[in-house]
Amino acid sequence: MNTALYLDQAHHFPQEFVWGVATSAFQIEGAARTDGKGLSIWDTFCQVPGAIADASNGDIACEHYQRWESDLDIVANLGVSAYRFSVSWPRVRPGGRGEWNPKGLDFYERLVDGLLQRGVAPYITLNHWDLPQELQDQGGWANRDTVHRFVEYAVGLHQRLGDRVVSIATHNEPWVMAMLGHEIGNFAPGLKSRAVAAQVSHHLLLSHGLAVQALRAEGCKADLGIVLNLSPTQAATDSAEDQARTVLEDGRLVRWYMDPLFKGSYPSDVMAFLGDDAPQIQAGDLAAIQTPLDFLGVNYYTRSVISAAGPWDVKQSGLELSDMGWEIYPEGLTQLLVRLHQDYELPPMFVTENGGAFKDQLDNGRVHDLPRVKYIKEHIGAVAEAMRQGVKMGGYMVWSLLDNFEWASGYEKRFGIVYVDYASQQRTLKDSALWYRNFLQRQKASS
Ligand code: NOJ
Repeated sequence: MNTALYLDQAHHFPQEFVWGVATSAFQIEGAARTDGKGLSIWDTFCQVPGAIADASNGDIACEHYQRWESDLDIVANLGVSAYRFSVSWPRVRPGGRGEWNPKGLDFYERLVDGLLQRGVAPYITLNHWDLPQELQDQGGWANRDTVHRFVEYAVGLHQRLGDRVVSIATHNEPWVMAMLGHEIGNFAPGLKSRAVAAQVSHHLLLSHGLAVQALRAEGCKADLGIVLNLSPTQAATDSAEDQARTVLEDGRLVRWYMDPLFKGSYPSDVMAFLGDDAPQIQAGDLAAIQTPLDFLGVNYYTRSVISAAGPWDVKQSGLELSDMGWEIYPEGLTQLLVRLHQDYELPPMFVTENGGAFKDQLDNGRVHDLPRVKYIKEHIGAVAEAMRQGVKMGGYMVWSLLDNFEWASGYEKRFGIVYVDYASQQRTLKDSALWYRNFLQRQKASS
């Protein structure tokens, strides 16, 4: 499939289609101990020897906490209509309960007002993984009490900012927090238990549903939703083993989240697979999780090829790989969106993240990141194709505005459309940013 061709044919995205760029608090802000911020589980995890590839941390990151104004100028200059960012829970309520931190709240208020002044819609994510460490000390997401602390956090933030934000996503990528954080253990808090991970996933979903209900009860005007990391899963071969394993992996990655959110039940095949490790679910939980939403956020980077024999070697595929070693597979985004549209009754979907890490070189004030231009262009084409097939889409956001702290990969992987020289903190628009700006101008001109 030639998605570049689709893009050329489908230049007419509807006028109200939202174009954006995305970041998250821990990955860009720095100022880890400034102005009363509490520590998060990622501050702690970064201190574990060997946890982060380059032994780095989020103490300084992109200094966005100090440089937010000029960063917002860059956002506005790109011509996007939305900026997706997350609020650091331990910055606004350091212990996750108890006292709120006025300076932390002030920071996000400045950010929201700064965006509105520049004509850019604020799209907030409440939880992009940086749980207050003090809550982790009491069991974190494995403890049902954290669900209620999250609802309080959502309501408190809404009381301060809710009148000015356009969109609120509760969680970013619950699969990653549950699976990588609590089963595989390569992400914070670094636990390795399938049972704990399953319970965490249930508590994340429950806190999402209860937070949406609480925000609606507060009269929240913002659109409410959740952001999931989803991929099409494909069997490596036709063998019965690979096929069966692929169905299970689809269950664990896609249906485990989509079914309770939009059908009110967990998939029975995954429940059976988990056996004694299945989560404890109380009466009323599933009804809360199924609270209707205004949007579904989908983060898409690659497909997932499944082999029953063990991890599949991506080098076999012949597809180009990003610097993360992920296959570049734009048609997977069309397949995924069409499948979700067919299998579920959904509100409009947004691609809330899409982008690639590539080996960028700063060369005389330019970064010729042509692989990233191609990546973004082809994936926008894939969205256009899904829309052509009848899928309701609300918008598309590039991950990421800036090069930033790529979790366990540290600063070695660069996802930004804006290059960050970490020594000087100087920002340089890469060719992908120039391309995106130009593309958005052409969109406006043709609408
Ligand atoms: C998804 C996550 O939400 C984001 O934090 C991360 O940087 C990107 N994927 C790239 O891995």
